[in-house]
Amino acid sequence: MQIVGNTLEHQWIPFTPNKHFKADPRLFVRAEGVYLVNHHGGKVLDASSGLFCSNAGHGRREITEAVARQVQEMDFVPPFQYGHPGSFELARRVAELTPEGLNYIFFVNSGSEAVETALKAALAYHRARGEAQRVRFVGRERGYHGVNFGGMSVGGMVKNRESFGTGLPGVIHMRHTHIPENRFQRGEGEHGADLADDLQRAVDLCGGDTIAACIVEPIAGSTGILVPPKGYLKRLREICDRHGILLVFDEVICGFGRTGKAFAAHSFDVTPDILTMAKGITNGAVPMGAVAFRDRIYQAVIDATPAEGVIEFFHGYTYSGHPVACAAGLATLDIYKNEGLFERAARLSKPFLDRVFSLKDLAIVTDIRGYGMLGAVDLAPSGKPGQRGYQTLIQLFEAGVLTRVTADTVIVAPPLIAEESHLDQMTEALRKVLTRH
Ligand SMILES: Cc1ncc(COP(=O)(O)O)c(C=O)c1O
Repeated sequence: MQIVGNTLEHQWIPFTPNKHFKADPRLFVRAEGVYLVNHHGGKVLDASSGLFCSNAGHGRREITEAVARQVQEMDFVPPFQYGHPGSFELARRVAELTPEGLNYIFFVNSGSEAVETALKAALAYHRARGEAQRVRFVGRERGYHGVNFGGMSVGGMVKNRESFGTGLPGVIHMRHTHIPENRFQRGEGEHGADLADDLQRAVDLCGGDTIAACIVEPIAGSTGILVPPKGYLKRLREICDRHGILLVFDEVICGFGRTGKAFAAHSFDVTPDILTMAKGITNGAVPMGAVAFRDRIYQAVIDATPAEGVIEFFHGYTYSGHPVACAAGLATLDIYKNEGLFERAARLSKPFLDRVFSLKDLAIVTDIRGYGMLGAVDLAPSGKPGQRGYQTLIQLFEAGVLTRVTADTVIVAPPLIAEESHLDQMTEALRKVLTRH
């Protein structure tokens, strides 16, 4: 594709400095395996699985063929009052992967929609049980739960909030878990489990029976791979149980093998009541998200409407369980299973984290974190916050490596099919670029 004149003018690009990007775009035209090809024909190593989506690598024939077959056979079915077998089969397959007791799956189109669905279902559940006074949510600083109003409100990233009003009423934020005592800690930090007591403080302040749900990412992804301190998630679980609060794990990044198991809930051995997912569910090939619910949540909402033929949950999207997304999802789950990719991620984690942590000696590196196939390197800011991070993203791209950058933190999350040679390429590029600063 030739980029000429004002070809790029008309798109308002998401989460990107538009003017700068349009003056010097980073466009891709092809993708296969762990590589993307940019519009100059250069090969770029995908060290962030796109945006934590393409866990099985790009251009997987099994997925593209399933998608092509489905779109030819039946492109669309209304998901309200009608259906198609693929979505029921995918729900069954997803429920096989989710932690025990979370067997009901609601389909959406993105991580943001998964979060909105989780929050609304939490309210509907409490109301169905005669606890309509539970209307508060507890989120966490440095949490990211997408960009819609509910997710923005429970999220904790100032830039994502400050231009957009006050958000949902009645939201309380716990402190984040990125504390200096855990610097350069690989895996879970030794310090900070007591930060979970912020949930108890919210209970003490507002009354436990006013809180509908507490939502956290088991590992906060978008704010720089903040791995939970040892015991932190268990403590959240205990406090939720004591006060009838639903615990929501937002696993939009953590899910589908990223932590070395199907979900982070398995890795940390803590079972939430609601689990949101997206991205890896279709390997990024078709937009899709989903929410898994504990059986009793589904049952309570359904049973609260005894009259036959009456809708129980007034919620859903035109593209919920879209046939093409379901075909992609089923083919993706087959790949994960047949190739043992979650187990592969667990094996690859050590060599991956060895390499990420090998950057510790660099002068501008102020912290490194990692778990499973997620790693983050904090850089000392130079100039305005985020400036060095942005320069690094561009320099790494020029060095042939695609990464995700948040403020002055470089995040790496290679596809689970990566070979050690790819990890070497990623680390060498990082070292070269970071040494130049
Ligand atoms: C934890 C988490 N929740 C929600 C979202 C939003 O997902 P989407 O961009 O698909 O709406 C993301 C996106 O990265 C995420 O990391």
